[in-house]
Amino acid sequence: MTELAQWLTTQTSDQALAGAILSMAAAGAELAAVLRQAPIAGQTGLAGSENVQGEAQKALDVISNDIVLNHLRANPAISILISEELDEAVHLSSQGAFIVATDPLDGSSNLDVNVTVGTIFSILAKAGGLLQKGTAQLAAGYVAYGPATSLVVRVTGDTSVFTLDDKGAWLLTVAAAKVPTASGEFAINTARERFWDEATTGYVQESVAGETGPAGKRYNMRWVGSMVADIHRILMRGGIFLYPLDSETVSKGGRLRLLYEANPMAWLVEGAGGRSTTGHEGILDVTPTGIHQRVPVILGSADEVRRVEDWYARS
Ligand code: AHG
Ligand code: MN
Ligand code: MN
Ligand code: MN
Repeated sequence: MTELAQWLTTQTSDQALAGAILSMAAAGAELAAVLRQAPIAGQTGLAGSENVQGEAQKALDVISNDIVLNHLRANPAISILISEELDEAVHLSSQGAFIVATDPLDGSSNLDVNVTVGTIFSILAKAGGLLQKGTAQLAAGYVAYGPATSLVVRVTGDTSVFTLDDKGAWLLTVAAAKVPTASGEFAINTARERFWDEATTGYVQESVAGETGPAGKRYNMRWVGSMVADIHRILMRGGIFLYPLDSETVSKGGRLRLLYEANPMAWLVEGAGGRSTTGHEGILDVTPTGIHQRVPVILGSADEVRRVEDWYARS
């Protein structure tokens, strides 16, 4: 089976970029081992600190951030790290050509209940500065710590999936993920229905109306509470993920963060033939105004995303 380093030679001739991806993969492999033991080490609780997002940090949020920082600090190609868990961008190698934006531990509310969590990363050229559109990404990926440990990564070609074997090698298990255009599965936190806008309410109501409703088919609903887990399901079997702007998140611009959640996930999903939108524009076209900026996130099967876009166009 093809290993990650070998696959990277088919995706880019830039060995420093390949090296940056390998550094994130190595951080993921190290973190996978830590997470497997975390309940024994008593690390699934709170750190007692708050991050710039206003979230109570989990001990593993901090540990994950440190593991990523250690791997990137050891790679002279990495110039700057932007992290959900760090207030400001951290300057690493002055000779580095790349910026890495990361959510070192996504879905950390799921840690103490042993549900899949992940590490998300986006790689940008230092020359472009901290606030670049998602279309400028050089590569993006995530590690999903689930029953298997999966690395999903895309340079500019296919979105591919690697699985960590028992010797620490990343083996290619899906050469080119394809998000089915049509789907009968949506992912949204339905407890927030009272905050939804007209477009979200309309789309969900059409979907739950089933075979005799306007969508003309039966839908299923899944919501893990870890974006990495929900997006991995959509990459593997289709579906649509919605964390739209709602009356409670509108003051912050949304719930999920553009640079290290929305942009990398949109890069991966679009690389697999899916579609992404904020409701009004493609996620990758949003011009960032801050490193922790939040945006509405709707992405997945193209037909479903288009139906949501149609609702926004009408409302
Ligand atoms: P993080 O753990 O990195 O802060 O991200 C959590 C995010 C995302 O993973 C997930 O989709 C979303 O929070 C869940 O939000 P709700 O708890 O509001 O459902
Ligand atoms: Mn968080
Ligand atoms: Mn997250
Ligand atoms: Mn996080």
